[in-house]
Amino acid sequence: MPGSVEALHAEFFNALVAVLPQLDHLHYGLSDPADRSIFGAPRRLARGPAALFDRLMRLGDIEGLLRGAVAVDVGCGLAASGVQLARRYGLVVEGVNITEAQVPLARARVAAAGLSDQVRVHHADGRAMPLPDACADLVMLVECAFHVPDKDRLMVEIARVLKPGGRLLVADQERVGPPLEVMGMFFFGAEGTLARAGAEAGLRLITQEDVSAEIAAWMLDYARAGDYPARLGLAAWAALRGRPGAAAAFWRGSQRFEALIREELRARGGQDRLGESPIRRLREHTARELRDGESRYVLQRYERVA
Ligand SMILES: C[S@@+](CC[C@H](N)C(=O)[O-])C[C@H]1O[C@@H](n2cnc3c(N)ncnc32)[C@H](O)[C@@H]1O
Repeated sequence: MPGSVEALHAEFFNALVAVLPQLDHLHYGLSDPADRSIFGAPRRLARGPAALFDRLMRLGDIEGLLRGAVAVDVGCGLAASGVQLARRYGLVVEGVNITEAQVPLARARVAAAGLSDQVRVHHADGRAMPLPDACADLVMLVECAFHVPDKDRLMVEIARVLKPGGRLLVADQERVGPPLEVMGMFFFGAEGTLARAGAEAGLRLITQEDVSAEIAAWMLDYARAGDYPARLGLAAWAALRGRPGAAAAFWRGSQRFEALIREELRARGGQDRLGESPIRRLREHTARELRDGESRYVLQRYERVA
């Protein structure tokens, strides 16, 4: 990632966590496309990420794993999945995250959950993990593959750490058309890229669910809940709780991040609309892409070929 984009993203992200310490899942969510009440949007927005995680657990038949089985969470964010895998299913978890600033935050969440003896968080690249061969019964790859340009290397490394017969669970977005790079942070592959890379690495795609419509509905809930009101509300909340420094840093960080997205939207030929948040526009744009079939959001289950 180019330094400036990464630094800006980290600044925004750290400021966000400072005002919203309960943030854990760092991935998109599922909303019911049939439930469109405006007043329900904030609730659906808050519940969506956990709904996505639960759906992935069902696809992966996680209940079928023995307690004490080892899971590797590649691109583990703030260890939301790791905490759930340990608490609900009794798994031992190795989280791997390339973003240094997130590692202490993830470890703090694990410690707060009383799970430090069950969940470890490593600062490392998912393409070169500090883990032995064939150590994992399960690998999770939730919204990480689309941050990685060379998906072949990623899948080879995942195959290396998985035991024969072990499973890989993926949540990822792919383009139906040609691949697309956005802001040096997202590398959306063409449809089927990950499955092909997996097949070459010895990972067989067993099943796949297309949840594009539910992800699009969740993105529209974001737009409906309003980006400016939500950000102002968060900053005001932090200030009222006696953390004016965190509130100011969050507002500053979010403005800079917004400017970055505005630049990207302009580069793609979009016009600024007075008073409208570019972050909200980006969400609407993604929702449209998913609804119009230009990209797909899929949940996948792979098996390590023996
Ligand atoms: C959209 S977040 C998803 C986080 C987490 N999987 C979750 O579900 O909450 C993407 C995460 O992948 C991490 N990441 C991106 N590229 C990576 C790489 N090459 N190796 C390891 N982690 C990576 C980012 O730092 C970030 O934590």
